Order: sequence, then C-alpha cells, then structure tokens
Amino acid sequence: MTQDKFTPRVFSGIQPSGGLTLGNYLGAIKRFVDMQDQGGFETVYCMVDLHAITVWQDPADLTRNTRELCAGFIASGIDPEKSILINQSQVPEHAQLGWVFNCVARMGWMGRMTQWKDKAGKNSENASLGLFGYPALMAADILIYHATHVPVGEDQKQHLELTRDIAAKFNHDYKVDFFPLTEPVIEGAATRVMSLRDGSKKMSKSDPSDMARINMTDDADAIAKKIRKAKTDPDALPSEVKGLENRPEARNLVNIYAALNDQSVDAVLRDVGGRQFGEFKPMLADLAVAKLAPISSEMARLMGHPDEIDRILTRGAERARAITAPILRKTYDIVGMVPPVSG
Ligand code: AMP
Ligand code: TRP
Repeated sequence: MTQDKFTPRVFSGIQPSGGLTLGNYLGAIKRFVDMQDQGGFETVYCMVDLHAITVWQDPADLTRNTRELCAGFIASGIDPEKSILINQSQVPEHAQLGWVFNCVARMGWMGRMTQWKDKAGKNSENASLGLFGYPALMAADILIYHATHVPVGEDQKQHLELTRDIAAKFNHDYKVDFFPLTEPVIEGAATRVMSLRDGSKKMSKSDPSDMARINMTDDADAIAKKIRKAKTDPDALPSEVKGLENRPEARNLVNIYAALNDQSVDAVLRDVGGRQFGEFKPMLADLAVAKLAPISSEMARLMGHPDEIDRILTRGAERARAITAPILRKTYDIVGMVPPVSG
C-alpha cells in the first residue's frame, strides 16, 4: 500500500450530544486548531449528528447542541475559510459510504468495541442497531475524504484501528489500493482528561455530577470553584513525572495545566514541584479562566447569530461534497454499481 499517493488530509469529528467539556477542548479541538494552523494539511472538522442519534436525542436539543458545537469550534480558533466545517447529515456521502462499510465490517469486530460494551451495557438487546454499527459510520466519515490523519483523544484509539481494518479489508476484497490506512494522532499532555471528582474516570459530558467536569460554557466563578473543589491528595507536587505515579488526581491537574499552557509536564513540574495544592489550584484556576473565558464569551456571541452559523455549515457542506461525491462514485464503481448516465 502506497500511502504517499494520498493528499495529506486531516478529518475529525465530535458528537453534538451535549455541551463541550475541557476534555473535548484539550483532547480534540485545541489540537484541531494546531493542525489547521501548522499548514501542510487540508483540514475537515465535523459535528457528527448522525452518530449522536445512536442514543436518544431530543430534537430541539440536537439542533441547539450542533450550533453550539460549531460555535465552540470557531471560538476556539477553527477558521471556516481555512478548514472545512460541516455537520455530517448535510454531506450524504458519509451515510452512503457507511452502508458499504456495514457490509465490509464483521459483527465480531463490532462486538469487541469497548465503547459499544460500555454504552450498551447489560441491556444490549435494547440498544439501537446504529449504536452497534457506529464504528463503521466513523470509518466512512474518515475514508470518504481519504483522510490520512485523525486527531482524537485516547478513547477513540480502538475505533481508529477498526477504521484501518475496514480500509484494508475493502482494498483486499476488491483487489484495489483505494482507501488509505489512516494514522491516528493521539498526542499531547491531555489525551485523556480525567474527572475532577475521580481520577480513574474520564471527564465526560454525560457524568451525572457537573462538578466532575469543566464545561466550555462555564463562567470564571464556576471554573474557579470546580478547580478549588477538585479531588487531590495531601502531598506536595513532585518535581519529576515519576513522582506522579499512583497519584491520578495530581497527575490530571498537572496534565491540564501543561496542556492549557502549551508546556510539557516536565517543564510544569520544574516550576511547581514542592508546592502544595492550596497554592497550585489557584494558579491552575487563573490559567484556565484566562484561556477559556474568551472562548466561552465568543461562543455566546456566536449563538446570538444562528443564521450565521447555519450559513457556515451550508458552505462547508458544499466544499466537502466536492471531495466526497467523486470518492463515493469511485467506491460504487469498484463495488460494481451501475452509474447513472447523462443526457
Ligand atoms: P465525544 O464528545 O465523545 O464526541 O468526543 C469528541 C472528541 O473529544 C474525541 O476525539 C474524544 O477522544 C475527545 N475527548 C472526549 N472526552 C475526552 C477526555 N476526557 N479527554 C481527552 N479527550 C477527550
Ligand atoms: N466517535 C467519536 C467520538 O465519540 C466521534 C467521531 C465520529 C469521530 N466520527 C469520527 C472522530 C471520525 C474522529 C473521526 O468521540
């Protein structure tokens, strides 16, 4: 497989299934902005509304959350001129290629996905078929652009391995060299931001406790309060990374500081090693407020102009389809589907 025949292209997506958290920002969006700005890639970022409805979404909430997610992307620095910004349902080729991949992927592969097992739980008989097939649609999101790089948080690693398996099986079954084997990009100090209440659990928009997460819409007081109350241990901060072993809560707060400040964890510990949490938490709160407050106020401003957001998404879908329509047609040709004729 020759990977260098593919245009360097980044794709990633986030579900509009609730508000954005600091985990989404540091694990995903901030890195989307970096990849957009570093140059050398075409960048496509997506609100995956079709994925969101694999579990029940109130329609009015879905609409609002999609616009708010779009506002979050833009407020964080995604430029709709530089990047293609879309919602998945406006680019029908995602779902169309998703169907083809439903026929390539195997039941056994899907059944082994830990996110499926976590989300469906013991009640899998009652989960939607869409939730089970979710990773095949995710593979289609990526491969309908022939994307070469996908920045995500740690929790998506297994889905990206499956994306490579689907591409490889398609190429093998149809004896083509058509889909790239996409590289996951899981980098930085905050690929897994943990709950502020329990260092063994991921920070999540679905956590029942709002104190467990920082929302991108939280105001300065809320951010400071949540950091002040974050669970920690009684010891001082170490001067080296080794000293964070078996201290998940301490490690999490240091990781968050490092990621927000664009520093390595080593560099942060050189500065703050030896300090107590009573001193470190206010430093972290000030940093978080300084970085996040401008984003949340810009999000609020944009949410006052939903028509502007909708125009950006419509334009993004037009640009996206210039890439996706030819790739879908070529896929159908490979599979043997008779094309329409002109005239
Ligand atoms: P989701 O909100 O599940 O659609 O996730 C969107 C993106 O944010 C994915 O790339 C996730 O890996 C990333 N993400 C979500 N939660 C976290 C977290 N706690 N830490 C780091 N990345 C996260
Ligand atoms: N499954 C991802 C999540 O829950 C969201 C997603 C859907 C995605 N399609 C994608 C991420 C394609 C990267 C690329 O976070």
